[in-house]
Amino acid sequence: MSGRHAAPGPADRTASELTSDKTVPAVSLAEDPEWWRHAVVYQIYPRSFADANGDGIGDIPGILSRVGYLRDLGVDAVWLSPFYPSALADGGYDVDDYRDVDPRLGTLDDFDAMVAALHELGIRVIVDIVPNHTSNRHEWFREALASPPGSAARDRYIFRDGLGPDGSQPPADWISLFGGPAWEPVGDGQWYFHLFAREQPDLNWDNREVRDDFLTTLRFWSDRGVDGFRIDVAHALAKHLGEELPDQATLDELPREGGHPLWDRNEVHDIYAEWRQVFNEYSPPRTAVAEAWVEPHRRPRYASPEGLGQAFNFDLLEADFDGDAFRRVVDFNLDLAAQSGSSSTWVLSNHDVVRHATRYGLALPDDPDERRGAAWLLAGGPEDELDRERGLRRALAATLFLLGLPGSAYLYQGEELGLHEVADIPADQRQDPTFFRNPGVDVGRDGCRVPIPWEREGPSFGFGAGAPHLPQPAWFEDHAVSAQDGDPDSPLALYRAALRLRRELRTAEELEWVESSGQLVHFRRPNGWEVATNFGSEPVALPEGEVLLASSPVQGFLLPAETTVWLRRSR
Ligand code: GLC
Ligand code: CA
Repeated sequence: MSGRHAAPGPADRTASELTSDKTVPAVSLAEDPEWWRHAVVYQIYPRSFADANGDGIGDIPGILSRVGYLRDLGVDAVWLSPFYPSALADGGYDVDDYRDVDPRLGTLDDFDAMVAALHELGIRVIVDIVPNHTSNRHEWFREALASPPGSAARDRYIFRDGLGPDGSQPPADWISLFGGPAWEPVGDGQWYFHLFAREQPDLNWDNREVRDDFLTTLRFWSDRGVDGFRIDVAHALAKHLGEELPDQATLDELPREGGHPLWDRNEVHDIYAEWRQVFNEYSPPRTAVAEAWVEPHRRPRYASPEGLGQAFNFDLLEADFDGDAFRRVVDFNLDLAAQSGSSSTWVLSNHDVVRHATRYGLALPDDPDERRGAAWLLAGGPEDELDRERGLRRALAATLFLLGLPGSAYLYQGEELGLHEVADIPADQRQDPTFFRNPGVDVGRDGCRVPIPWEREGPSFGFGAGAPHLPQPAWFEDHAVSAQDGDPDSPLALYRAALRLRRELRTAEELEWVESSGQLVHFRRPNGWEVATNFGSEPVALPEGEVLLASSPVQGFLLPAETTVWLRRSR
């Protein structure tokens, strides 16, 4: 890979010293109950991380075999997307059994061994909890289908009589979030509600048994040593449908704050108050982070210490690569964090969005509300519209900016390899339900879920011995871990150096802006650690200080275009 962050003089030494030293000291887990406030959390999409038994699907023994990689990367925690038994109607977010491991991915013993190995290296473990819906293969849903209307088994879900004399019409014209109808008939005049795919029936959170069962699940994983939970669609659990269902147009008009029938209802926090009591049964208390796509000012309640304690902030993920936009997002979110007493979270990529290297390498979409990069994917991912090099340069600059911020950072597997979105997955190999439910409108999220490359060669670039469950492109070769290992100018080396330095430079959760103009954004942390990003397309004067790390090569006294530097200044 070409030069990324070689900086002149002392900075050069700093970077290579940092990257050549693989013996990262293990961090003692006992010490710091507040670890989540500043953690770097690495998201593993288990089916696409490492495949130990060669069946093409990543698995828990695969993760176990790569714990050394995670240690060398320097992450504080891993978050595992669902690994539970599932028919994979939605990549595992359709859970058959919340308290087991998918046999294709391993066993509970494998899980325990993985947790032990990670803990040994000072890496904490966060698992994904999917409480809004089960899969349609969950024993509760099977029981509901086998039971009559009005039964206790049906009350665990959201069943309604259909309209018309024989109930053959849906109770409402609602559209699911994945496209297509949100109500599905079961053949006896009743229909069930699903926000997502039809294989994901929504649970009824007014039902006490549902509530108790999730408390059991939280204890089940906490007892196995899991340190925290990522809560899927945390803002949708509480619903109030009422007798008369509004139509979709009315639903769309209703403000999504507090009183909407489906989204972000105030009572959802009663659920999390109960969960908090379970978290606090443990020492240190188990942590949680809410995936809540709510009005930003509604986020602090999810992040409150009486609730989940932390909430994702997707504002940077949604922002353009633009200095003013980034600065605004930071100010706004530090203020929100202060309101809840939590720390802010920062995210650029995850398993639901186009990878940030690709988003930043595309011309801006005409419609700013459009999911970034979606139109490009839909067009088949034309290479002439993607500036790969520029996208990666900007991505590394944005990542280094993010890693300098107070709060915790969530990274997504493969971004440390500088991966772009895979655009050319043939239709017959796609898996994401959003592709099948929105023909011609959305190609879905498979392009960021392709198994990651470990080796330059081999049947699946070292992912496993068999054909990977999603096809990998030829250009993965240059991004393989083995291609970047030992190359001080690679994205991987930059991530390793940044995470190691971040640990060393840890300081109070404060930030002060340094006056700057144009597309230069510059801030200082309390200990003299400074972060300066040139978001513009022309070089600017390099701020004073010792360059510790740079996202692309710094020469002389200029900060190149689309580059972040970390500086140390004695005050
Ligand atoms: C969350 C997950 C996404 C999933 C959806 C339904 O948004 O991140 O991957 O499809 O919930 O569970
Ligand atoms: Ca496997």
